[in-house]
Amino acid sequence: MSSTGATIDFRNVRKSYGKFVALENFSMHVGRGEFMTLLGASGSGKTTALNALAGFTDIDSGEILIDGVSITNLPTEKREIGMVFQSYSLFPHRSVLRNVSFPLEMRGVPRAEARRRSEKALAMVRMDALVDRMPHELSGGQRQRVAFARAVVFEPRVLLMDEPLGALDLKLRETLQLEIKAYQRQIGCTVIYVTHDQGEALTLSDRVAVMDKGRVLQVGPPEELYDRPRSRFVAEFIGANNLLTVERAENGGMALEGLGPIKGDIAHLSGAEFVSIRPELVRVRHGGGGAHPARLKETVFFGNSVRYVLLTDADKEISAIEPRRPGQEIRPAGARVGFDLDTTDLVALTA
Ligand SMILES: Nc1ncnc2c1ncn2[C@@H]1O[C@H](COP(=O)(O)OP(=O)(O)OP(=O)(O)O)[C@@H](O)[C@H]1O
Ligand SMILES: [Mg+2]
Repeated sequence: MSSTGATIDFRNVRKSYGKFVALENFSMHVGRGEFMTLLGASGSGKTTALNALAGFTDIDSGEILIDGVSITNLPTEKREIGMVFQSYSLFPHRSVLRNVSFPLEMRGVPRAEARRRSEKALAMVRMDALVDRMPHELSGGQRQRVAFARAVVFEPRVLLMDEPLGALDLKLRETLQLEIKAYQRQIGCTVIYVTHDQGEALTLSDRVAVMDKGRVLQVGPPEELYDRPRSRFVAEFIGANNLLTVERAENGGMALEGLGPIKGDIAHLSGAEFVSIRPELVRVRHGGGGAHPARLKETVFFGNSVRYVLLTDADKEISAIEPRRPGQEIRPAGARVGFDLDTTDLVALTA
């Protein structure tokens, strides 16, 4: 099975429901064969964006293009888009095989060929031994594999997935994340995937678009969103973070809330209202010392790592995380420690 993924463009799309605006100035380009994830909290407009692309909902203004051609007047069935939803939308009275062959039947593919192609799709998702089962005889993970096979059996150029793993437990979700990624590479179609799980977004995607209130706040490869979030919202949405208000900045120096003056290269922080630093970049000085004296407020043991909550003398909490070496002593709360920040690890943020 293979397809040449199409390009997708949303241009200034707006969609409102009465007075409520679900998508506003929504613009995004997705490249051929790219795996793009829409990441955002509940109600941020993710499903609305997919529905607009698939043709389940019309838009107020703006434009959506597939392969550079506007689809505004193209009916849903002509858009050649495969879809997988969160709740299993399998037909309850059709067997696994007949669920998967459905899109081919709809397209008038002869029976024998439809069967052959459906079996191939089911083999890819390792469901070929269960072709005669009915949906209610399958586990949750098996149902999503069938739903995936049905979505790709007609070799769509675009595949949309709306929280396809949302109903599954964590371990199964992680297994299926890796599978989905592998199938997509094999097929080559363009994917837009929707999730509110930042870990899932970082694992799966070529690029991630972080959404809030119907807009795209930042779009980029997972590493870029993690290393260089531009806004406070994105910094707080993806991974753990220490957020510090800039109190004063002048030539050669900067003072941060609860930390006082910091020294080092701050050219990249000019104009910042906030700066952030990831816990794994905070350097704890367990024997005391360092530029910032602190007290250990809390220590949480995670097995492969230890998380510390440090309290500066001005009562600012700083999270730090360190890999743990076997036998390493875990110091009790209250112990005097210190920490250092490398100014090049600080990221400038806007509100
Ligand atoms: N048919 C509708 N009528 C009125 N409001 C709607 C309709 N569909 C969606 N909305 C509103 O539009 C906003 C965006 O909805 P959408 O379903 O796109 O969110 P979402 O990001 O997919 O959220 P979730 O993660 O909960 O699925 C929500 O505030 C929702 O209440
Ligand atoms: Mg949704």
